[in-house]
Amino acid sequence: MKHLLDIESLSKEDIEHYLNLADNLKEILYRPIPKVPTLRGKLVLLLFYEPSTRTKFSFERACKILSAEVMSFQTKGSSLEKGETLLDTVKNLKTLGVNLIVIRHNLSGTPHFLARNLSVPVVNAGDGTHEHPTQALLDLLTVRQKLGTLYDLKVAIIGDIKHSRVAHSDILAFQKMGSTVYVSGPAHLLPTPAEEEFFCLKPKAFKVCYNLATAIESADVVIALRVQKERHETPLIPGYNEYHLTFGLAPKHLDLIKEGALLMHPGPINWGVELHPELEKYPFQVILDQVENGVAVRMAVLLTLLTGA
Ligand code: CP
Repeated sequence: MKHLLDIESLSKEDIEHYLNLADNLKEILYRPIPKVPTLRGKLVLLLFYEPSTRTKFSFERACKILSAEVMSFQTKGSSLEKGETLLDTVKNLKTLGVNLIVIRHNLSGTPHFLARNLSVPVVNAGDGTHEHPTQALLDLLTVRQKLGTLYDLKVAIIGDIKHSRVAHSDILAFQKMGSTVYVSGPAHLLPTPAEEEFFCLKPKAFKVCYNLATAIESADVVIALRVQKERHETPLIPGYNEYHLTFGLAPKHLDLIKEGALLMHPGPINWGVELHPELEKYPFQVILDQVENGVAVRMAVLLTLLTGA
């Protein structure tokens, strides 16, 4: 594998490779000194053109654990403000000895553009409304660790499906591993029929539900999403209170899901909007496990692309 640009282009075997490697590497996180020399001498460039907490810092942590050096590009104060293009910026930074680029950008397809134009591995850390492949890998890893399988599960994804790159990667990833994905949210934030056709990898493996209860009924995994207001050109929800009343997950919904079903969220969470604050106490809420697995998954990605592991 040369780049990690999306889940769409990964096979089930590619995904299993990343999950198995991440599972093996996770042990390093618990050592008294969590550091190995594997990527000594490598330089990773973090290019985040959009805000990030979890993804950026877990990539940085993964680099440091593997002994790679990190260069973190700050858009503010850079020559972007003087009109330098993205490609010129990256070409110039690459001459400083960069071995791999991690990019988050508000325009879908930017990581693919860099991959076509540069001779170093590129990792997509979230591009516009398109995909967020490392988030999907860490979501899969969390489910596999907690439920023991990724096969034949019912996964419900609730919220702003249309604008969520996490949803798009998860929809493809869970189906590739043999599970069925149900999505629900306000009608205008759901996939169009053409998008529905694109996302459905096998007959009956993907279902769009206008009714929240239908999506979460007997689910093994429920993933709540943040409303991606920053990607709405015009206001698409009447208000957060209204949203919470219709598509927010609350303790009353726990009766509908399977006993022991996982509750997940990619973060950042708007408590009281997509999740009722009481749900933080739900014993099968695994949101911080997802964050921890993000480090292991990103270690697996760096190792694979930098060493061919
Ligand atoms: N899940 C996720 O991508 O979080 P950040 O935006 O904080 O990186």
